[in-house]
Amino acid sequence: MESPPFPPQTSPKPPADAVNAPSSLELDPDEMRRLGYAVVDAVVERARGLRADVPWRGGNRRDLEPLLREPCPEDPGDPDAAIARAVTEILPRAGRIDHPRFFAFVPSSPTWAAVLGDLLTTGFNTFQGTWLESAGPSQIELVVLDWFREWLAMPESAGGLFTSGGSAANLCAVVAAREAAGHPERPVLYLSDQSHSSVERAGRIAGFRADAFRRIASDDGYRMDADALARALERDRAEGRVPVLVAANGGATNTGAVDPLPVLADLCAEHDTWLHVDAAYGGFAVLDPRGAAALEGIGRAHSVTLDPHKWLFQPYETGCLMVRDPDDLTRAFRVLPEYLQDIDLGYEQVNFADRGLQLTRAFRALKVWMALQTHGRRAHADAVGRGITLAHEAEAALAAHADVEILSPASLGIVCFRVRPEGEWSEADLESLNRAVQDTVVDEGTAMMSSTRLRERYALRLCILNYRSTAADVRAVVERIVAVGRALAPARRG
Ligand SMILES: Cc1ncc(COP(=O)(O)O)c(C=O)c1O
Repeated sequence: MESPPFPPQTSPKPPADAVNAPSSLELDPDEMRRLGYAVVDAVVERARGLRADVPWRGGNRRDLEPLLREPCPEDPGDPDAAIARAVTEILPRAGRIDHPRFFAFVPSSPTWAAVLGDLLTTGFNTFQGTWLESAGPSQIELVVLDWFREWLAMPESAGGLFTSGGSAANLCAVVAAREAAGHPERPVLYLSDQSHSSVERAGRIAGFRADAFRRIASDDGYRMDADALARALERDRAEGRVPVLVAANGGATNTGAVDPLPVLADLCAEHDTWLHVDAAYGGFAVLDPRGAAALEGIGRAHSVTLDPHKWLFQPYETGCLMVRDPDDLTRAFRVLPEYLQDIDLGYEQVNFADRGLQLTRAFRALKVWMALQTHGRRAHADAVGRGITLAHEAEAALAAHADVEILSPASLGIVCFRVRPEGEWSEADLESLNRAVQDTVVDEGTAMMSSTRLRERYALRLCILNYRSTAADVRAVVERIVAVGRALAPARRG
């Protein structure tokens, strides 16, 4: 006798009344409201106290293990106590990324309207992978993407999708470009020596081997050297390789530099190569006339990475990829298994799962839509312009001191510099002094700031994107950096 294809189910059936009664995971609506209001109160209190708080608080693993390590609770506990612990013990042991003096890395400062958009879509449990499961939300994603398209001056046919962030958007761009190039045997990916790490990672995930990357040198302004790129493209073609994608910067993370986009667009057109602009942090500068001038030509790209969670004041995780032809995404990503045959409602109905990595996706466009409904485009543009202006103010305040060296002038909200007291200083001593300045300013709670390396030199870096930051914040931080530098200098010279 043949054995049955599946073993018989042996687990005992639960008693019928146990599966008829409401699950203990359900909460009574009044209790839901009470807990929800408690959470809203906690979040609003935090926002109210933000300016008076420190911009950063850390903690080492040795202290956190005994505090937070615990077995998974088997039985119900007290939700009020859980909220209280989250608010007092867990969440504050972190950077206040939206603090008006948090100038490290690439900060984010979401508006309340955007946060509420996130809460709404989470509460409504939107599944934003298929039109069948979320028609209205999918339509809004199309609408918001079309706003971005207009801002970037991309052609009317352009579209895209929201992603978890810039890294995912860069990965989708690399995969789409490789497929559009016919998935060649010997592909080449061009990036600059200032490209964000996620571009290289995207190439690696997409299967590019180490010898398929060309790191094009940047010029004195940290912009990709277009002549060097042209030479590399020609050499690779002559040697039988296929240029698949040029990844340009629309606001380099280090310095805010923008690559020469019109020249790169011409070059890519000449070489029939996909131009991707990684404008994850800088792209929304197009809302400000100075930013738009710096990013001229961005609309000619085949694809653009944008991170609304950086400079469009959105909560994490709100990234976006815009492409000249959304069919390039569909061709690269669409796989229709039989168990999803019902989602195929025709071309007009966009299934966003067909355009990227995720089947199950959050409805990220709603928060952007909420923020723009509440404050309008102009207020967002003003807030972006504020960051650009404040970075120029920071540069001017720094440059007013003879013992400060500007290493990269203000560009799209970023300025890099170092304290350099008069006299002979070795690079090692300058690094040690500037590290000490940074540690002091951060540890005492004046500001959160980070460092980088520019042409091997240790550089302090301010990235000023927060709509709450003021000129007074910037001036106070600059003056403190200078004062700390002067106080520490004598002990740091070797
Ligand atoms: C230029 C650039 N590209 C990509 C990224 C990665 O974006 P995400 O952190 O949203 O994945 C960043 C992050 O700072 C960035 O500045």
